[in-house]
Amino acid sequence: MAADETEGEVPDGAPWWETAVFYQVYPRSFADSDGDGVGDLEGIRGHLADLAWLGVDALWISPFFRSPMADFGYDVSDYCDVDPLFGDLAGFDRLLADAHALGLRVVIDWVPNHTSDQHPWFVDASSSRDSPRRDWYVWRDPTPDGAPPNNWVSAFDLSAPAWTFHEPTGQWYLHLFEAAQPDLNWDEPAVEAAMHDTLRFWLDRGVDGFRADVVHGIGKDPALPDDPPEVAGVPHCALNDEPVTHERLRSIRALVDGYPGDRMVVGEVFLLSTDAVATYYGRGDELHLAFNFPPLFAPWRADRWRACIEDTVRALDPRGAWPTWVLANHDNPRPRTRYDRAAARAGEDAGTTARRSEARARAAAVLLLTLRGTPFVYQGEELGLCDAEVPPDRQVDPGGRDGCRAPVPWDATGDHGWPTGSGVRTWLPLPPEADTRNRASEAADPDSVLHLYRRAIALRRSTPALVRGSCTLLDAPDGVLAYRRSVGDGVAEGSATDGDTVEVLVNFTDGPVEVTPGGTVLLASDDPSPEARFTGVLGPDRAVVLRR
Ligand code: NOJ
Repeated sequence: MAADETEGEVPDGAPWWETAVFYQVYPRSFADSDGDGVGDLEGIRGHLADLAWLGVDALWISPFFRSPMADFGYDVSDYCDVDPLFGDLAGFDRLLADAHALGLRVVIDWVPNHTSDQHPWFVDASSSRDSPRRDWYVWRDPTPDGAPPNNWVSAFDLSAPAWTFHEPTGQWYLHLFEAAQPDLNWDEPAVEAAMHDTLRFWLDRGVDGFRADVVHGIGKDPALPDDPPEVAGVPHCALNDEPVTHERLRSIRALVDGYPGDRMVVGEVFLLSTDAVATYYGRGDELHLAFNFPPLFAPWRADRWRACIEDTVRALDPRGAWPTWVLANHDNPRPRTRYDRAAARAGEDAGTTARRSEARARAAAVLLLTLRGTPFVYQGEELGLCDAEVPPDRQVDPGGRDGCRAPVPWDATGDHGWPTGSGVRTWLPLPPEADTRNRASEAADPDSVLHLYRRAIALRRSTPALVRGSCTLLDAPDGVLAYRRSVGDGVAEGSATDGDTVEVLVNFTDGPVEVTPGGTVLLASDDPSPEARFTGVLGPDRAVVLRR
């Protein structure tokens, strides 16, 4: 196999976020300690040992701040307090202390682009045009024809403008998301100062960093020009890309780096081009990491994954920017659901889909955990969950994202670890197959998806080439993706003292493919005790990691 694309090695002494495996906790759906049908901080604390067992290094916890929950926490009404639904500050401190005691870092969500319309800042700003906080948000006078100030479209309802007219004060205000999420005006120095204070509040409490929500939104063209006609209908949050944001990120970076203990920021820069996203790393002086979303939208095809890897290398490498990999999060259908739906659209019959569904998700897990960069695992992905079917009368999310947010089933009991009583039910229905596909059942089955994630994370941790080695794409038969990870000079089989090389092969097709035989099988997506020597026949939807 010939090499044709290489990413460099990471130097020794890489920061923790470059070698860590992150695990995203969506608190409403992770675990419930008080039986109200909604997860909470004590619920997370009660399962930290399970996460340590899985082998992840860091948690990213989605918002648990005070919020009216119009966007389930991404509409914050107090950045410096815990919503009573989730617990309180003392409970957060306990969670953080226990996580740290287990060696788990904790990164929390930070929502700098917008607040809730119930935030005291917006209540004040909207009380009168003369409010001292009026300019903390983005207001515009009515246009002569009564139309919104520009053609920007909001995120969830593509037919809705990103503006709402505020009758009492006779002006429009901007919101890239729901009307209940007015955009902050970062051109106002007091806003920047106040938001910096919210970072300090949590850094002082000891968090290890932040996941910064739609952080590319904090700089906007002050002229607020129309979006070009060729992208009309694309939500403005997927287009906004302004130079001033980079200055603001440099200030945020300086603030965070000013704290002891290697704090970090991973940014959600939801732009469609990897080249554009790469600029938000700056020259090592903006985001520490940025999410790399194309793999999350990539179909189950070797050529498309290869293109994602090539694009990532091309865009990030010249800047020395470290990639991230993500298969799932709380905003998108889970991998199995995504691949199944795409297969159905392509005409695959239901029986074949049922047979391939888990195999595809398993092979994808091997990809996620063996590519060069920081992987993010979304809760329940390690159980191979599918999205819940949410009947219309239980749908609650304005963005139609309920399915992937279904509660995590913890065991095979009737309530699956979500103790509800007296008419209380979980805030969303549980995912399918919860009787067998739950944490306890999978922990007891060495052949489960859960054990595959655990084995893959353990292999990654013990294999220098997988943590920090270069990545070279290899030639491979159609439908197969192959890459080599290497540190040092590469070595003879079995030795990993001075250098290390492993090869990863993923078959995206529904039939066996012949590739070069030989080498020791370190990990297989479909078998806890795979064959010792690689025969050269790669089964359907199968991934293997080899030491040649
Ligand atoms: C991105 C978050 O991931 C999503 O859940 C949220 O709705 C929007 N940002 C708005 O905050």
